[in-house]
Amino acid sequence: MKVFAIADLHLNLSVPDKSMEIFGPVWEKYVEKIARNWKQTVHEEDFVLIPGDICWAMSIQEAQIDLGWIDDLPGRKLMLKGNHDYWWSSLSKVKSILPDSIEVLQNDAFHIQDISIAGARLWDSPEYTFESYIEYRPNPKEKKDIDAQIQKDLNEKLFARELERLQRSLQKIDPKAKYKLAMTHYPPISADLQDSQVSKLLEKYEIQKCVFGHLHSLKLGSQLFGTKNNIEYIFVAADYVDFTPVRIL
Ligand SMILES: [Fe+2]
Repeated sequence: MKVFAIADLHLNLSVPDKSMEIFGPVWEKYVEKIARNWKQTVHEEDFVLIPGDICWAMSIQEAQIDLGWIDDLPGRKLMLKGNHDYWWSSLSKVKSILPDSIEVLQNDAFHIQDISIAGARLWDSPEYTFESYIEYRPNPKEKKDIDAQIQKDLNEKLFARELERLQRSLQKIDPKAKYKLAMTHYPPISADLQDSQVSKLLEKYEIQKCVFGHLHSLKLGSQLFGTKNNIEYIFVAADYVDFTPVRIL
């Protein structure tokens, strides 16, 4: 069994008007690109981590269409919620519609063979930002009417809650597992690998590799992440990895 990861599929099969193609030529025919590359890379016996921003569906019924599409791709899949997974309401509802090849990670750890996986969505960290790495592309549909200070306070609250969720999940990691992995949607550390609250937590639980996504439209040639204190930080947002699942084990 090989293990792969790819984040931010942002599928729009259930809501065709929400195509990512508005974000530039790299996203052109991205759904077809993901399917083609996935089938060339992943086999039925493999395992794929999908750390968030799975699809643009607004309801669980709509999400069934996108999840069915993922189910048809080879391998078993483990998904985590991203900030755009609006359809992902209660865990029981999500679990009730999961196709056979897909499982989800929430408030728990997942164990498969000699691998144990923990994770949480996380949020924008008060410790670091990625603004200088991003080629800003305004989203014509975005509305911004929230006061900056209110937004900052809210972000800090959300981040603190997500940090607790990550800790609870890490507590459930099997200490005897040969491979200890983590998946987060938001990056757990700065691009230049400065210590962070999350990185310290991952170190405490002896995580070996952490996969994540969330950032898009990075400036060409950006050098991001790498290995710090025995943890490999692997950024796998779909557009950054050429819409191809990345082998991690
Ligand atoms: Fe995201």
